[in-house]
Amino acid sequence: MRDFKYFTPTEVVFGRESEAALPGLLKKYGAHKVLIHYGGGSAVRSGLIASIESALTEACIPFVKLGGVVPNPHLSLVYEGIELCRKEHVDFILAVGGGSVIDSSKAIAYGLAYEGDVWDFYDAKAAPKASFPVGVVLTIPASGSEMSDSSVITNTERGQKRGCNSDFCRPKFAIMNPERSFTLPAFQTACGVTDIMMHTMERYFSPDSPMSITDAVAEGLMRTVRIDGEAVLQHPDNYDLRASIMWSGSLAHNGLTGCGGRFDFGTHRLEHELSTMYDVAHGAGLAALWCHWAKYVFDVNPARFASFAEKVMDICPLDAGGKRLPDRELGLMGIEAMRAFYKRIGMPTNIPELIGRKATEEEMVTMAERCSRGGTFTVGNFLVLDRARMLEIYRLAND
Ligand code: NZQ
Ligand code: ZN
Repeated sequence: MRDFKYFTPTEVVFGRESEAALPGLLKKYGAHKVLIHYGGGSAVRSGLIASIESALTEACIPFVKLGGVVPNPHLSLVYEGIELCRKEHVDFILAVGGGSVIDSSKAIAYGLAYEGDVWDFYDAKAAPKASFPVGVVLTIPASGSEMSDSSVITNTERGQKRGCNSDFCRPKFAIMNPERSFTLPAFQTACGVTDIMMHTMERYFSPDSPMSITDAVAEGLMRTVRIDGEAVLQHPDNYDLRASIMWSGSLAHNGLTGCGGRFDFGTHRLEHELSTMYDVAHGAGLAALWCHWAKYVFDVNPARFASFAEKVMDICPLDAGGKRLPDRELGLMGIEAMRAFYKRIGMPTNIPELIGRKATEEEMVTMAERCSRGGTFTVGNFLVLDRARMLEIYRLAND
């Protein structure tokens, strides 16, 4: 196990009554004037925004609102948010929504504490040294952004989707009421399940495996999300299943499931290019790539894939005669089981299923070019991927 730092400062209030804690949390974390930031309408339609407005009014906490965050959130709205907050003297950003709203809020919060262009942080031209505080009312379990150190923003002018990671942006608090996720369409639920599993898979397929306690936590989480994720699609109003997925979403990406190991995140980096190029849902993009990535990197460590097959996908490791299957065979069975799982929950398993046609060679070259920043940048740790390898994986996923 390598040395590690585990820092999860976010105060979590979880459950049916959790939203009642909002005014108290805002006061506790020093909010004098709040920006309520939200998405394209689901939080308005559900009445959540109206109930937050009433709660803040009653608690004498002034606020302004900015909706319109789109999935794969845009830099242009971040700029608008920064300008609005400066004009209105806002000192606390409240994200009401999912990963896109939270990431947009984090970017506004970075921008408010910086004199230059906030894109500098996403373009790796500067590192954040401060941020305004962010709080979250979560409506979709998926990104884990409610506890993560990450924010991912799309610069549509440049055709770039980039992440910025720093502890400054970890939310002060996250309010999580699983009932809020009852209204999610099946597709969004499945995208969330895929993303949650993937945040821990990216940590599990580490060059530093095995790591017994970290592995046990990770395997338990991935197996639970797989089982409860499939069940919740059959029973979308089941509170306990929704609660299991929601809490898993935070634990999968707050660092817990990767303590002591280097993470991979190659599939994530490749996916961010898909969502930039085709504006697809992040979870669906991950499902379209993962099995192809897995087969490509398989030979690095077949035993790791065998553990995944046995402990996450519940594949019996024994043959009919009671003898343990070779790692290669078991590992490949695990990848196939994952593909079948994606199909059962309605996720694409290749690029044509994701975008409705094959990607052109030119598009794949562009994605590999962007992902490798013109051939100067590699992704992944389980197997390091350079531009040529990225392109090979896109081609495999395009068949
Ligand atoms: O915009 P509205 O109308 O609210 O609709 C949203 C959106 O269309 C809808 N939705 C949310 N809550 C709902 C609901 N619909 C019905 N009922 C509800 N309760 O769901 C759609 C997707 O929302 P979005 O926030 O885009 O989803 P998600 O949470 O998956 O976030 C995706 C973004 O997060 C980034 C992704 O790249 C993507 O941009 N990620 C952020 C990470 C982080 N900051 O740590 C890590 C992830 O790996 C990921 O990259
Ligand atoms: Zn993700």
